[in-house]
Amino acid sequence: MKKTLMMSAACIFGATMASAQTVGFSQIGSESGWRAAETTLTRQQAEERGIDLRFSDAQQRQENQIAAIRTFVAQGVDAILLAPVVATGWDSVLEEASQADIPVVLLDRQVDAPDDLYLTAVGSDLVHEGEVAGEWLVNEVGDSECRVVELQGTTGSSPAIDRAQGFRNAIEGAENIEIVRSQTGDFTRTGGKEVMESFLQAESGNEICALYAHNDDMALGAIQAINEAGMNPGEDILIVSIDAVPDIFQAMAAGDANATVELTPNMAGPAFDALEAYWADGTEPEKFIQTESQLYTQDDDPQAEYEARKDLGY
Ligand code: AHR
Repeated sequence: MKKTLMMSAACIFGATMASAQTVGFSQIGSESGWRAAETTLTRQQAEERGIDLRFSDAQQRQENQIAAIRTFVAQGVDAILLAPVVATGWDSVLEEASQADIPVVLLDRQVDAPDDLYLTAVGSDLVHEGEVAGEWLVNEVGDSECRVVELQGTTGSSPAIDRAQGFRNAIEGAENIEIVRSQTGDFTRTGGKEVMESFLQAESGNEICALYAHNDDMALGAIQAINEAGMNPGEDILIVSIDAVPDIFQAMAAGDANATVELTPNMAGPAFDALEAYWADGTEPEKFIQTESQLYTQDDDPQAEYEARKDLGY
């Protein structure tokens, strides 16, 4: 793959650097505020750099993503951005892109495929995100008994797998903390609300001390469910989640949520930087370009964080 990608970069450099580069983007869908912001920023980044972006919304279906990649390959695009909905099942289509000498950059999620089938992956350390969330809870509850419910992301997606693992790593040594229920809410606000309602019903009479949600949108749906059940989210049930979207900061400012781990939606910036260097002279980027994961709590002026993010396309 390395050799063919290098040849392709040289051809592109020789033949088409004067004209706009064309990039196909297979996006998962619009399940969350974070995803919407990633789409907005990718479009903005492409426009600023004079890249012709061809956008395809897969509506959460891997088969739509595979079809979109095949279309991009047939069109002979200069690169493909892929935010893969699930981790497995990509080998064949990535091989097809590779055979066509089209570099693929993974955005925000990982795949279970040989890493020579893509140029690079831009994203955060998803296990670390879960660990940061779990460590926050361990510190917050101290020695108190804590029964946790977990809203997982899309089944089979790398963030759902890795954020679950990271949280478990963090609470492993804390015998007072136990995950009592865990179910997917598919990264959506509606899913988070519905599953939280079922958790509350199933656990009625038993105290739930904390909710760990794999993204903010599910946490926001769960907050609604907790309110409707007559409890105080953020007090009766601690809430920690991932993404740092504007709405979770509003919830934190209101005392309804406690902590979030930031995932930057600007995956396209580093992706296009890597592609531009590659197109220019065949520079091979690192296989993983890591973005930061910062923890925010109610002590971090959530209202100001909301104001800073509210117009960024979430
Ligand atoms: O892959 C990143 C995750 O996907 C975000 O945390 C979530 O909001 C999104 O849907």
